[in-house]
Amino acid sequence: MSYRNPLKQFLLAAGALFLTTQLSLADTNSEAIERGKALAAMCNACHQANGGGMNIPGGESWPRLAGLNADYMVEQLKAFKTGTRKNPSMAPFANMLNDTQMQDTSLYFASLPAPATNHQEANKDLLAHGKQLAEQGDWNRYIVSCSSCHGADNLGTGASFPAIAGQQAGYIEQQLKAWQNDTRQNDPQQLMASIAKRLNDNDIKAVSAWLATQAPSRQTQGDKQ
Ligand code: HEC
Ligand code: HEC
Repeated sequence: MSYRNPLKQFLLAAGALFLTTQLSLADTNSEAIERGKALAAMCNACHQANGGGMNIPGGESWPRLAGLNADYMVEQLKAFKTGTRKNPSMAPFANMLNDTQMQDTSLYFASLPAPATNHQEANKDLLAHGKQLAEQGDWNRYIVSCSSCHGADNLGTGASFPAIAGQQAGYIEQQLKAWQNDTRQNDPQQLMASIAKRLNDNDIKAVSAWLATQAPSRQTQGDKQ
């Protein structure tokens, strides 16, 4: 009997096609990641070899890039290059990269496991206030909780809402101030600018310190509280 089931044939063929597209995607990604890794040699002085960045009290902190969404990072690199996001330390490096190199370095850093921050000790009341803002917000002052946009546990959602849990405290502070001062103007619909402008200095210190104590990914969530 040479009975052939056309549906089965079709599904097999479609399955094979799906597999090959998946494989070639993985292939091109791993090549891009390799190229990105080579380029990252010039990023590591600040962002560190493990991509974890560094909190520098009293100085300019370097953000963690490891485990952030790749498309989000590409958008940020473009913003530094076009000047809608202004930062004198980062701009020269963004200017060196073409679109493919932005993609490659972003895919590389996105592929690294996210390490915890080197956050400093902060006092209990400050952390409690930070947790409150991050998870509940403050309705009397029209401050929406961070997690309502940044996702469950502030671990980010897709390319639009970056992970801010487990990010360096000094860097989070710098960004909130940058929105207050209009030196970062690349966010869609000025969502962050309007929130940052409702926060006072103590709010900024508190929410940044608390977020920095949080696990940067689901995998490491058991490690820290
Ligand atoms: C001299 C230090 C330095 C070097 C070298 C450097 N960066 Fe940065 N980078 C920074 C600082 C500081 C910021 C935060 C800027 C700000 O406050 O807006 C930053 C921000 C970023 C961001 C945005 C992160 C976010 O969460 O929004 C990306 C992406 C990035 N850098 C990628 C790179 C890449 C890729 C390279 C190498 C080609 C690189 N950086 C080299 C200092 C550096
Ligand atoms: C209404 C939605 C919304 C809320 C609420 C919100 N954010 Fe954001 N946030 C965004 C968006 C969108 C971006 C990405 C901006 C961009 O594309 O440059 C962002 C980016 C950020 C970044 C930059 C991260 C990086 O790696 O570059 C920080 C820091 C941040 N938010 C902190 C906070 C904090 C702290 C709170 C709570 C007090 C908060 N956000 C509440 C929408 C929101």
